[in-house]
Amino acid sequence: MTNPFTVSAVSWHDGEMMLRSVREAVFIREQGITPEQEWDGLDEGCRHVLVLSHQGVAIGCARMFADGHIGRLAVLPKWRKQKVGTAIIEAMLDYARAHDYPQVDVDAQIHAVPFYQGFDFVKEGEVFLDAGLPHIKMRLKLLPR
Ligand SMILES: CC(C)(COP(=O)(O)OP(=O)(O)OC[C@H]1O[C@@H](n2cnc3c(N)ncnc32)[C@H](O)[C@@H]1OP(=O)(O)O)[C@@H](O)C(=O)NCCC(=O)NCCS
Repeated sequence: MTNPFTVSAVSWHDGEMMLRSVREAVFIREQGITPEQEWDGLDEGCRHVLVLSHQGVAIGCARMFADGHIGRLAVLPKWRKQKVGTAIIEAMLDYARAHDYPQVDVDAQIHAVPFYQGFDFVKEGEVFLDAGLPHIKMRLKLLPR
């Protein structure tokens, strides 16, 4: 079955308004992260993935740094558990593999650990607080092509 959404890679320049709308809804309004913490000035240097509904509404996003660090993964509440997050991670992993990244990693919010484990990410180190929320580093080693 085809997904009721489309996944694309965007630059911050092209996607900023839509990327901001998802992150504002999820991180700032839902999770209570401050705008200062959310808008950390690092977005321009990242590769972004944006998910749009077939109506053209931005419903999910994430970013990846050149060193394979994935962050700011967010899906709007009413779109959760419909594989939008999976589609975003798969797009990130496709890119990382195509560009011979040896690994990718994420600072996972604790509630999202099972989500990342579904892609074989492995927990590393101790739980730490970031923006007041408990996180743990998780890493996925990628096999050479
Ligand atoms: C985490 C998040 C991105 C998952 O997105 P999603 O679109 O709901 O994920 P999917 O539908 O692709 O789920 C894939 C699998 O992970 C599981 N999963 C998803 N979110 C989960 C969670 N919070 N806890 C446990 N399992 C979860 C799903 O049940 C599904 O399992 P299945 O394949 O057995 O059915 C989404 O819940 C979200 O945006 N949360 C708020 C922001 C956030 O916390 N981001 C993560 C920062 S590290």
